[in-house]
Amino acid sequence: MSQSLKAKMIIDKSFRIAEVDKRIYGSFIEHLGRAVYGGIYEPSHPLANESGFRSDVKELVKELDVPIIRYPGGNFVSGYNWEDGVGPVADRPKRLELAWRTVEPNEIGTNEFFQWTREVGSEVMMAVNLGTRGIDAARNLVEYCNHPGGSYWSDLRRSHGVEQPHKIKTWCLGNEMDGPWQIGHKTMHEYGRIALEAAKVMRWVDPDIELVACGSSNTGMTTFPEWEAVTLDHTYDAVDYISLHQYYGNRDNDTENFLALTMDLDHFIHTIKSTCDYIKAKKRSKKTMMLSFDEWNVWFHSNEADSKMEPWQIAPPQLEDIYTFEDALLVGSMLITFLRHADRVRMACLAQLVNVIAPIMTENNGRAWKQTIFYPYMHASRFGRGVSLMPVVDSPKYDSKDFTDVPYLDSAVVYNEENEELTIFAVNRNLNDALELNCDVRSFEGFEIVEHLVMESDDLKATNSAAQEKVAPRSGGSAKLDGGVVSASLNKASWNVIRLAKK
Ligand code: AHR
Repeated sequence: MSQSLKAKMIIDKSFRIAEVDKRIYGSFIEHLGRAVYGGIYEPSHPLANESGFRSDVKELVKELDVPIIRYPGGNFVSGYNWEDGVGPVADRPKRLELAWRTVEPNEIGTNEFFQWTREVGSEVMMAVNLGTRGIDAARNLVEYCNHPGGSYWSDLRRSHGVEQPHKIKTWCLGNEMDGPWQIGHKTMHEYGRIALEAAKVMRWVDPDIELVACGSSNTGMTTFPEWEAVTLDHTYDAVDYISLHQYYGNRDNDTENFLALTMDLDHFIHTIKSTCDYIKAKKRSKKTMMLSFDEWNVWFHSNEADSKMEPWQIAPPQLEDIYTFEDALLVGSMLITFLRHADRVRMACLAQLVNVIAPIMTENNGRAWKQTIFYPYMHASRFGRGVSLMPVVDSPKYDSKDFTDVPYLDSAVVYNEENEELTIFAVNRNLNDALELNCDVRSFEGFEIVEHLVMESDDLKATNSAAQEKVAPRSGGSAKLDGGVVSASLNKASWNVIRLAKK
């Protein structure tokens, strides 16, 4: 029988975690599957512009308001010669791409991608190849992209028709170098050494850049978290961020356990913070290492189809997960977790952006459409800018297969001081019952409810498609404000965005 569950929350202006770095709403485009070819770029599409970029895809990216996009990989970067992707397109080689066993035509490279990010209003987070290449290729790429002119690589860029330097600020020192699947996989000491030397000379070329060292590929790696400790022991003074990657899946179809996975995410972030702080103490350093969660998402639906993919195709449909409603709930919870760690998680990239484990899908020569996960990502990106406040939560809890004391209510709060807006993000993890929320917001005098957006579905496995959008948010949730208290019924298994603003 259904029962009434109650949760209480206190939000106060003074419970500040940190200013949210908008780059936690970043994403990722890899030369993989149909992310680039058939995704952002399809010159034969009726909606393509003169550069071959699809305007329908651009509009959806703009709707998400993505501040930074990681590029060009991922596993791809560890075998990539960036020089293949610049200069006249007709002269660019087609290469066997060993990470994903495809053929890379190199029609899109650094300059084209940079242009596309300008068109969608994003910054680039550029990764360098520390797999098959190393220090030399990395420093040359920084010179090609960021040096104004008067040197070999910067003049080469100018000869390619790009007069002004790109001034790319954020650079990743390789990708998942701890993973045996990585081209040029390294031990932690090998990686620590090459990352330090690459960082050193990249910064000598451009002192304004910031650098991300590779952390573990996921918490299941046998070298986790020693990898982070050793890598940072080598690189602490030379880098600004350590990366975190994590993908989740509901392989056993145990949704209660699936929705509790952000307990694991939270623990992961705590572990990395502690590891960074241990090295900080060891080095008697004043610097605090920040975290770049530069790959995260749900990823498992497409695993079987991918294992059967014919090799050496150009842009085959790889990693095309079709996301369910429950996946959107977990994505919402993951964003909530990043907000609650806004003091240390300064960048995060939803992996990825188009077609490949992505919120945006396209049909070749057809429509672009929104997956279920598009919406929590869009809500957080649009309404989650300001100061992250720590809500004091008192929620009923449950135990799942792998977790104990999982609160049904998962919540984060962002206060935008400039616009005088307050946004409460909340997931009700209970699959059967509504949660009656009572939330004290007395420190926000003169505020009123703007809207209560809700995403819910009777079918946890509901998906969207090019033909039909079954899962989408609606406004008109039940939130009311009375005497400084917001009361709302959070429907079973729902994503909620309660927006308040000063009258
Ligand atoms: O995002 C897909 C892949 O996941 C990336 O190429 C790799 O870095 C990770 O293992």
